[in-house]
Amino acid sequence: MSELQQNSSDRIHNAIRQYLESLQRSGIRQLPRLPDMAPSLATRAAGQPAHAASAVSEATSTQTVPIATSIDQPIALAHSDNIAAPVSQGAMTEPVQTSPPSVEPDPLAALDRVRREVMHCTLCHELAQTRTQTVFGTGNPSARLCFLGEAPGADEDRQGEPFVGAAGRLLDKIIQACTLKREDVYILNVLKCRPPNNRTPLPEETANCRNFFERQLAIIQPEFICCLGAVASQTLLRTTQSLGRLRGQWHDYQGIRVMVTYHPAYLLRAPDRKRDTWEDMKMLMHEMGIELPAR
Ligand code: URA
Repeated sequence: MSELQQNSSDRIHNAIRQYLESLQRSGIRQLPRLPDMAPSLATRAAGQPAHAASAVSEATSTQTVPIATSIDQPIALAHSDNIAAPVSQGAMTEPVQTSPPSVEPDPLAALDRVRREVMHCTLCHELAQTRTQTVFGTGNPSARLCFLGEAPGADEDRQGEPFVGAAGRLLDKIIQACTLKREDVYILNVLKCRPPNNRTPLPEETANCRNFFERQLAIIQPEFICCLGAVASQTLLRTTQSLGRLRGQWHDYQGIRVMVTYHPAYLLRAPDRKRDTWEDMKMLMHEMGIELPAR
């Protein structure tokens, strides 16, 4: 070990000692023993952020270490957040059970992390320069059903929310006809930035954004996805088949059942097709176990 490493090791050791002694002064006598914890406690004790140890707080242990022993051998100790609840107070020697690991991360927080990445994305130089803002997605982070559109238009670019313009109002009506509310479902687009003049997204743009919408879907884990229009359908399903061919049958995306229907903007131009979309929605609602009133 070099002199530098030795100094640094001594500093960490001293910091851990001081930290443990402060715990001891506050009456804590036992700590849960967890494997591979030394770096996290070292980080914490050295006054650095503890986030590197966050996984540790999800660990479970029934083993404990007397704190006096730990001062001499500062290894395998729990992150302080984990110590607060499970650690014995006073002279207790009984093993302490930590709380069970949280299996499900908070989908809202997870989505928010992706949202912040999206906000700063400049992979598509043209879109990053012309957008007013990114449009991430909205709705229930644990929705059973996601609607996947193509890309924000002018209204969405201005307001930062998907489907808030004329096509969005029609989508709202479709959702309502399904006896659902916008807050029940999650609405997102393939692209998070508005293409200039609402042009069709380029293949490299959909490829750049794939990571984002795939992560959104992985966090939400919907049972059903309804693709609105050809771009959403072909991108999600990685196919070049036409919408006409894709409609009317179930598809699979990573174990999620996928229904394909016309884009609401197209339905505004071709209202005759609304009947077809309604057939698609009836099929979707039937599969979701949602009963529709007779029309
Ligand atoms: N069209 C889309 O595909 N998405 C929107 O958010 C708005 C219009």
